[in-house]
Amino acid sequence: MPMSEHDNYSDGWQLEKSGPEAYEQYLVPEMFAPWADKLLAAGKLQEGDRVLDVACGTGIVARRASSKVGERGSVVGIDLNKTMLTVARATSSQLQHPIEWRQGDATDLPFSEESFDVVFCQQALQFIQKPGSALREMRRVLASGGRMAISVWRPLQFNPAYEVMADALETHVDEEAATMMRSPFPEWDISHLRTLIRDADFRDVSLTIEIGTMRYPSVEEFLRREAASSPLAEPLEALNPDIRDALIEDLEEALDAYTDDHGIVFPMEAFVAVARR
Ligand SMILES: C[S@@+](CC[C@H](N)C(=O)[O-])C[C@H]1O[C@@H](n2cnc3c(N)ncnc32)[C@H](O)[C@@H]1O
Repeated sequence: MPMSEHDNYSDGWQLEKSGPEAYEQYLVPEMFAPWADKLLAAGKLQEGDRVLDVACGTGIVARRASSKVGERGSVVGIDLNKTMLTVARATSSQLQHPIEWRQGDATDLPFSEESFDVVFCQQALQFIQKPGSALREMRRVLASGGRMAISVWRPLQFNPAYEVMADALETHVDEEAATMMRSPFPEWDISHLRTLIRDADFRDVSLTIEIGTMRYPSVEEFLRREAASSPLAEPLEALNPDIRDALIEDLEEALDAYTDDHGIVFPMEAFVAVARR
């Protein structure tokens, strides 16, 4: 993997229409919420911290952080995508401590220097065209000694169900759909990510490989929920039913080793990186 900033294959994983609601409904509880808890623990969040959640999406990290920092702390979530932020606002409206939601670009954060004690970024750095610029911005807005905690999926071979899904999409849909499914899993190894973070002038950089599990009640639900929650919703909806059945059959065969009495279960691996300003 070259050390230069990589191309943005998927245009920032932008979701339209009902995508953000589906993302919040299907992917957040089972996938992103448990990972948010790992990230909060890695960032050693404390009561009273001022927190920024960069590329917050529908806001799971910010919401989890809000209950921890309490009324003496504060939480801001920022994302490029307006409709993700609409869901973030709706989902957090009943929280005891309000969260500020902002629309903006991670590479040009609209905050002054040293405004936050902790900056989080969960599963988004790989979608940002210039990840190094985003990291430099995260450092700029951190107070001296402040902590950054980010997570990024490991490459596809460590996330086997998505490798299988991408291959099946390539066979039955098209190259574009396969590329989209591969886009959350950058070809970054541990030293590439470490270099990106160090080059942004962070210190005490520490990377951990975390392994989680994901469950779906069936292969069909895996396809349906992933499609609804991703930019693939439209191309998959438009698919001829015979092709869709063949796609599911191929997926069932390929995921047979991950099938039990309750559906499918598979490992998901990510890097969790922490560093200080
Ligand atoms: C897979 S989602 C992760 C969202 C959230 N962090 C979570 O854990 O659910 C990736 C998010 O990155 C956002 N994003 C992509 N490029 C961005 C940029 N340059 N600045 C801010 N947000 C960006 C997308 O809009 C999307 O909400």
